[in-house]
Amino acid sequence: MSQYSAITGWGMYVPEKVMTNADMERIVETSDEWITSRTGIKQRHVAAPNETASTLSIAAARQALERAGIEGKDLGLIIVATVSADYPFPSTANLVQHALGAQCGAFDMQAACSGFLYSLSIAHQFIANGSVKHALVIGVEVLSRVVDYTDRATCVLFGDGAGAVVLSASDQPGGLLGFTIGSDGARPDLLWIPTGGSAEPATEQTIRDRRNFVQMQGSEVFKFATRVMGTAMEEALANAGMTADDMDLFIPHQANLRIIEAASKRLNLPSEKVFVNIQDYGNTSAAAIPIALCEAIDQGRVYPGAHLGMVAFGAGLTWAAAVVQWTAPIATQENSYKAAKAGVKTGTHAEQEKVQV
Ligand SMILES: CC(C)(COP(=O)(O)OP(=O)(O)OC[C@H]1O[C@@H](n2cnc3c(N)ncnc32)[C@H](O)[C@@H]1OP(=O)(O)O)[C@@H](O)C(=O)NCCC(=O)NCCS
Repeated sequence: MSQYSAITGWGMYVPEKVMTNADMERIVETSDEWITSRTGIKQRHVAAPNETASTLSIAAARQALERAGIEGKDLGLIIVATVSADYPFPSTANLVQHALGAQCGAFDMQAACSGFLYSLSIAHQFIANGSVKHALVIGVEVLSRVVDYTDRATCVLFGDGAGAVVLSASDQPGGLLGFTIGSDGARPDLLWIPTGGSAEPATEQTIRDRRNFVQMQGSEVFKFATRVMGTAMEEALANAGMTADDMDLFIPHQANLRIIEAASKRLNLPSEKVFVNIQDYGNTSAAAIPIALCEAIDQGRVYPGAHLGMVAFGAGLTWAAAVVQWTAPIATQENSYKAAKAGVKTGTHAEQEKVQV
């Protein structure tokens, strides 16, 4: 009685406030030219003082529930992937569960930028073994609270946002077809927040040394990322009995355009099969892939039957990849959203015809 697990709802929320590269130039010694050429980023969204990981999550989740046609009380599981939770404890997932009126288990999952795909693979287990019918999986970050705005090597990279999906049990073949998760904890210091945990509790000195903010050895992370993105994606594809050629759309973690290009090259993918929105959001860590998925759907690049490849890497170091065959009938579910965003194409005619086949 093993079940397929299909994405039946999706939603995203980004804070209204935008910080452009010109704004960054006013804060640290940098330039639009440097940021654009080294990363592809043009702007990032930044949370308002009253916004937190849970408020962003709830906004994205409400959209996802509406699209799935279910309510909070229908959920059997909530997982929130984040490194910028409201509190060390309780979990952000607890707050989301209460706000949505859900009556189910809820927990946070920490695998940094790989967290959303880790969480998707966990939710899939609950659905495949028949114990949960609908799971809510959220990737959310308010990195603006943990980024050091005196460190130009990191502060230009990150942004805030949330993305959510509802994963539902289905008899229809498709949904999550394969995945992989990985970890190499040999060098936690390559990307970390050193202070604030049990290893180094916050003291006046550690805070003076700004060790309560993100620290990164960028070029080491870059080398790791270019290596792991392709191999992780290939592993997940192999687990699904597929190769890179079978992918209709590649939705990689949005950390650096050069890393995305290197991974796409390794997978031999033409640019039209690669989704990129890093220019608008920067690196939103666990939120990057679900936000990218929502925008890909919005732009008509996802359609029933399409095989989506998603891959992420992050602090840990961690990596994860997943292959999803899209099954939700976008054309009908998107109607209300389309109306709200008049003029946005949500599916080419050819794609709609492909659906009929
Ligand atoms: C961070 C990153 C963009 C830096 O690009 P890079 O080409 O590796 O640049 P380097 O770190 O070698 O720095 C080159 C120079 O630019 C400078 N620099 C760093 N940030 C800068 C900025 N915002 N503006 C201008 N100059 C900057 C450095 O100080 C260095 O100067 P120096 O040569 O005088 O010492 C790149 O390493 C990267 O993207 N790494 C992966 C990061 C990542 O993905 N993290 C998230 C993981 S989920």
